[in-house]
Amino acid sequence: MAVFRVGENIFVLENESFQYVMGVGADGTVRHLHWGDKVSPDDFEVRVFDDINSNHSYRDTICEEYSSFGGKLFRDCAFKCEFSDGVRDAVLVFEDYVISEDTLKLILRDIRYGLEAELIYKVYDGCGVMGRKTVIRNVGEDRIECEKIMSAELSFPEKCEYEVINTNGTWWGEYQIVRERLSGGSLSFESRKGTSAHCNAPFFIAEPSLRDGGKILFAALAYSGSFKVSVSRDSFNVTRALLGVNDFDFGVTLKKGEKFSAPWVYFGSAQCADEVSRIMNRFALKHVFPEQFREKPLPVLYNSWEATGFNVTAESQKELADKAAKTGVEVFVMDDGWFGERKDDFAGLGDWYVNREKFPKGLSELIDHVNALGMDFGLWVEPEMVNPDSDLYSEHPDWVYHFKTRTPSRMRNQLVLNLTKPQVKEFVFGFIDKLLSENNIKYIKWDMNRPISEPGADNLENSRELWFRHTQAVYDIVDSLKAKYPETQFEACASGGGRCDYGAFGHFDEIWTSDNTKPVDRIDIQNGYSLINPTKAMRAWVTDSSDAPWSFKFNIAMQGSLGLGMNLFECSEDDLDVMKEYVSLYKKYREVIQFGDRYCLMNLEDHGLNAVEFVTEKENRAIVFAAAVNTKHLHRSFKIRLRGLDEKSRYRVEIGGESTEKSGSYLMHAGLERDFGGDFKSEIWTVNRL
Ligand code: DGJ
Repeated sequence: MAVFRVGENIFVLENESFQYVMGVGADGTVRHLHWGDKVSPDDFEVRVFDDINSNHSYRDTICEEYSSFGGKLFRDCAFKCEFSDGVRDAVLVFEDYVISEDTLKLILRDIRYGLEAELIYKVYDGCGVMGRKTVIRNVGEDRIECEKIMSAELSFPEKCEYEVINTNGTWWGEYQIVRERLSGGSLSFESRKGTSAHCNAPFFIAEPSLRDGGKILFAALAYSGSFKVSVSRDSFNVTRALLGVNDFDFGVTLKKGEKFSAPWVYFGSAQCADEVSRIMNRFALKHVFPEQFREKPLPVLYNSWEATGFNVTAESQKELADKAAKTGVEVFVMDDGWFGERKDDFAGLGDWYVNREKFPKGLSELIDHVNALGMDFGLWVEPEMVNPDSDLYSEHPDWVYHFKTRTPSRMRNQLVLNLTKPQVKEFVFGFIDKLLSENNIKYIKWDMNRPISEPGADNLENSRELWFRHTQAVYDIVDSLKAKYPETQFEACASGGGRCDYGAFGHFDEIWTSDNTKPVDRIDIQNGYSLINPTKAMRAWVTDSSDAPWSFKFNIAMQGSLGLGMNLFECSEDDLDVMKEYVSLYKKYREVIQFGDRYCLMNLEDHGLNAVEFVTEKENRAIVFAAAVNTKHLHRSFKIRLRGLDEKSRYRVEIGGESTEKSGSYLMHAGLERDFGGDFKSEIWTVNRL
């Protein structure tokens, strides 16, 4: 791992898997020179280019580290602003640099105005990932109106076409993988909803279309609000990516001395797309998750939502908890319905006092009961929202985002609180603080069930700032609560997987993956999630949502942080025993699953079988989940080859009651042939080095 300067104008970053090199051109632009295997840093030089002709300027053809709108730049750029005299032309040139251990700061200054851009690069040890972000500062006297501030611009090393991978999902169908071959023009993946949302995701993975392979590139934006990831291939075959806060309806006014800090982008390269998931998984475990639970395995939980919906009462939840305890779960989470006048989704949000009809003795009766059963207690909240039918809204109708002359749109009968108002932010922190200080709550499920619309915030001089200010307020509140209550876990939920991104992973301990808990649908959802997101954060419940047998449902849900969400009132004692066995097996292997390397060995689309393996870094333990939805005719036999084991060691493989001993090389290269004939056939293999 190294960060250094060569000669006057070359800057080099190196980690264990790649080198990233920049140089300052004679015109002061900071150029991108290399993203790939390590080469001798002394050989780099910054070439001088001329305009090709009157139609193609040199600035359109070079690769800049952070391009600004201005001069002869006609392609998409990282930054755009307007100075107080109406000039919309930023000329950012290299001014200075700072190197400290793992970090490089390149400072760019406008040649005339008080505008400074700090390009910050960080090399993370031990995982093949680098980070970069941008800070824009007003170092002059007059205000600057910024219209676009991307976090990073990345130029791809090959001039070939790239296949760009992202997701294109929905609520109930998150993380559906899409691959787009980019021959020319732009691909744009974005959210305009105020969360990262269920549709596209704030990352890209790009595969070069080279005969001899070439490196896969990837980058993920650490941001949970409206984002944009665009990848463009210009007419000269250069591909570049921009990642950052979405510039749609974006604005930042910077007065003298003010700055805007754009979110981090984590980026790297891999041998194959499946390796991206392992690199980023290790990175998240080492550098991203909040420290409180970073090194601890997450508990198995039970959640009441699919069993009791809004109809929660002290009695029903106590009975549910009795049953949940029999399965061996460690946290009992009571979902929506416990507060205010909450009987359905028409009322109550904002009134975060306990509904005394449902809980005559308050929450403590239930919490004590849950604790006495040996489980921790968790609670659902939706802090960013208010129902018009609530005391909070009657008292503070001006606390929601709205435009004065428009009626704010309701979605799920609720409005979004304006968290950019300090008093609203204080209110949200205050009610959760009160809940946590008065009750033994070890788990908070933080939900967010609708996008921001009619984005008016008349408390802000520039109300376009509300998009990122809202996201920042959520992070601030969660960070403060986590600091005060370090033993309480926080789950980010936004109608299922609407807040799943590296921003959320930096502030929450886990996310709710999808409201769709049907195991067959979950296979796609989870494989899409796992393209780049860490296993540990992926909550996965077993529920009643399909007729598949428990074996199949657990097979799928055990590939993340396991939860149960079925209606336990309808389960027999035998069912509870079966659940207990799976929960106990999960606990034995959860370190392998939550902290191990994930290999997608086979998938339904290509092979007719989904086979996912998790292996410890030391290659001594693994667990394999193989499942076929329905095999056809006589096509029922599948050869499963493992990955990530030690070739020379011998392993015991246990599948149900059977056991066999094989070498690592046999398991990886010859593989085991297994029969999956029938519907919903699945197997869990445990693999242990002898
Ligand atoms: C949406 C979440 O995704 C569900 O799990 C549940 O918590 C409901 N909201 C409650 O309203």
